[in-house]
Amino acid sequence: MTEQTLSTYAQSPVATTDTRDVVLRLNNLTKRYGQRTAVNNLNLSIKRGEIFGFLGPNGAGKTTTIRMIFGLATPTAGTIEIFGQNALQQRANVLPRVGALIETPALYLYMSGRNNLRAVAATLGGVSDARIDEVLKIVGLYGRQKDRVKTYSLGMKQRLGVAIALLQDPDLLILDEPANGLDPAGIVEMRDLMHSLSEEGKTVLISSHLLSEIQQICTRVAIINLGQLVTETTIDDLVSTKGEYEVQLEQPEQALALIKQQSWGTNATINEAGKLVTVAPQNRGQDLNLFLVQAGFVPETIAVATRDLEQVFLQLTSSEQTGVK
Ligand SMILES: Nc1ncnc2c1ncn2[C@@H]1O[C@H](COP(=O)(O)OP(=O)(O)OP(=O)(O)O)[C@@H](O)[C@H]1O
Ligand SMILES: [Mg+2]
Repeated sequence: MTEQTLSTYAQSPVATTDTRDVVLRLNNLTKRYGQRTAVNNLNLSIKRGEIFGFLGPNGAGKTTTIRMIFGLATPTAGTIEIFGQNALQQRANVLPRVGALIETPALYLYMSGRNNLRAVAATLGGVSDARIDEVLKIVGLYGRQKDRVKTYSLGMKQRLGVAIALLQDPDLLILDEPANGLDPAGIVEMRDLMHSLSEEGKTVLISSHLLSEIQQICTRVAIINLGQLVTETTIDDLVSTKGEYEVQLEQPEQALALIKQQSWGTNATINEAGKLVTVAPQNRGQDLNLFLVQAGFVPETIAVATRDLEQVFLQLTSSEQTGVK
């Protein structure tokens, strides 16, 4: 067998698995409203079981993208594949397997939580009372099902919105800003809910304009700005600093001058907190400690540096990043 056939043979099963595992794929998705491009050539793929974060500042194009995925807006260009099917052509097959909560849920405030679910179930058809019990339990509202929705907290209303999205037991759940306006406890409840849904094998796409809201919920994130993809990465990669350490010491400026003369330390800096930030010789923290001590700078503390996620997010979504001023 030649090398060429070997590699073709080795790659083909991987390619098949990959296609099957992709639950949602956006190909060059674009939406223009007159002169304004709300979503610009967006490419994304989300795999089965992922809790995927869709992040961007206000006006970035998140809701527009989600509305297109859910068939509420028609793309100007590009395609959407859901479970490997063309979602624009196979809408009737695909959409019953997709649950969505888009912006704030439309709820009847004078009806109970349960009756809100009943009302939606009646329009959908084929949703049993047992399923209503189930979704109330999943979102933690079973005990409050008889109370009028106007007496619910914001977090409870959001969770009732998720319950509505779950009625048809969808495989893909799309939640537009489900944590919007929630307090820290509400965000923790929402996070626990997302994790239990993911454990059940559901794929979740969750949008937010605040990284802090979803950093502990999602494994992977896409960041968009002005309708364009800025980056698609893991939270770990966003925070990682590629082996930098933060050193607190008495004379950071002098230590910095010395470190910058070393072959490994040319990129060293001092951060806003006045700490020296540098990689270590041989990438070993203990060697950095030894180097500093031998040079007469005894560190107060040495810690692995982390980047502030909100800062990273702001940097990535500043207009200059996407070349639009
Ligand atoms: N129906 C519409 N007609 C005209 N322009 C629209 C329409 N819907 C959205 N836009 C524009 O498209 C852009 C993206 O809006 P979109 O609502 O998708 O942003 P978003 O990321 O969801 O923002 P937010 O975080 O504020 O919810 C904005 O400039 C908005 O004004
Ligand atoms: Mg929005």
